[in-house]
Amino acid sequence: MARVLLLVPSATYRASDFLEAARRLDVEVVVGSEEPHVLAEVMGARSLVVDLDDPVAAADAVVAHDRRYPVDAVVAVDDRGTVVAAEASRRLGLTHNPPDAVAAARDKRLLRRRLSAAEVPQPDFVELPATAGDDEVVDLVTRLGFPCVVKPATLSASQGVLRADDPAAVVSAVARVRGIAAGAGADAGLLAESFVDGPEVAVEALLVGGRLEVLAIFDKPDPLDGPAFEETLYVTPSRLDTPGRDAVVAATAAATRALGLEEGPVHAEVRVSGGRAVVIEVAARTIGGLCGRVLGFGPGRSLEEVVLSHALGVPLGELERRPGAAGVLMVPIPGAGILLGVDGREGALSVPGIQGVEITATAGSRLAPPPEGGRYLGFVFAAASTPGAVERALRAAGRHLVVRIDPSPASTEGSSGPVRARRAGSDCR
Ligand SMILES: Nc1ncnc2c1ncn2[C@@H]1O[C@H](COP(=O)(O)OP(=O)(O)O)[C@@H](O)[C@H]1O
Ligand SMILES: [Mg+2]
Repeated sequence: MARVLLLVPSATYRASDFLEAARRLDVEVVVGSEEPHVLAEVMGARSLVVDLDDPVAAADAVVAHDRRYPVDAVVAVDDRGTVVAAEASRRLGLTHNPPDAVAAARDKRLLRRRLSAAEVPQPDFVELPATAGDDEVVDLVTRLGFPCVVKPATLSASQGVLRADDPAAVVSAVARVRGIAAGAGADAGLLAESFVDGPEVAVEALLVGGRLEVLAIFDKPDPLDGPAFEETLYVTPSRLDTPGRDAVVAATAAATRALGLEEGPVHAEVRVSGGRAVVIEVAARTIGGLCGRVLGFGPGRSLEEVVLSHALGVPLGELERRPGAAGVLMVPIPGAGILLGVDGREGALSVPGIQGVEITATAGSRLAPPPEGGRYLGFVFAAASTPGAVERALRAAGRHLVVRIDPSPASTEGSSGPVRARRAGSDCR
């Protein structure tokens, strides 16, 4: 029986889908995490404690473990384990990405520098050091022009990403984004980029020996014009015309080459602006949250099964997505506060085409929309014959969901602050 080491950060949405994929492939799992992993225990899997933020020490631990208990692949289920997976796999002679390429994909400053050196189409950018004062920030950003987008170097899920349209807005955005980065324990370095207008797509792909196999292209049919960039709808296949899709794929492939990525999953965001595909971001991982659940390949294989098969070197089979259209709604968070509950699940599930509703945030937890928040509230999944029908189903389901949030900042048990309830679909056109 083949054996895979799954690197699972303690905060991730991706663990159960990878564990399920391993079960379906009949692959034995060892879980590497910062602490003994609850899911691993439930599944009776072996586990190994590794520091995912210290690739050298973590790779040492993996290599030592491998001597007693050899593995056939090391796979990171999420962004945070990717550098450790690359370094450990390199040392064990397993399929891997160059560690420096993966590290560059995790830091937007390094990503921009590599894409710039290879002349891959991307926004103009300036790096804003942690020490830069207001005058220096305005000076640096004025070279880009307005509007621009301020973002932290190392966060994800649109956390800390803010559009600014003039110098005063940049100064306040930088202060706010620095606060968000500090609160999340992230690097204090920021970037400012020119705002790229135009529709945005997400590309889900697999690199095999440096060749990019596109698995799906998702449209994001809600406008993403800022000031914050909350993710809502993803629908595949993309309704871009063929030249548009070709340009998106070519830009994604060029970006992976510029980074030096060679093997494994790729998730990219690309905007189509004036007929040109412009790379917003490339990550060496699968799509975030539970969004991957809308994808299925060949005879019913999941995205995670495809990724594990590739890492284990077993035949990939059919990579054609199952026929028809599919999509996901990341349920919008109506405001900051304590989640009281989400009503209307039954109504959402009764909408034709809706396949599931998963509320991932637990009642009592603190939530905030971006730019402050970095967690998902929940997901609605749909399948239908056309992308238009999927989009309509997701919007209709969103209108059924009522998210109840208690916005009072010092909310304690038993107190009853004003309750903010809003239909999740009310902003969805
Ligand atoms: N330069 C830009 N121009 C236009 N939109 C942008 C730009 N940078 C980011 N965005 C928007 O913000 C979203 C999140 O930014 P991104 O760089 O992908 O960070 P994250 O790692 O948080 O996903 C993007 O999907 C896009 O909609
Ligand atoms: Mg992104």
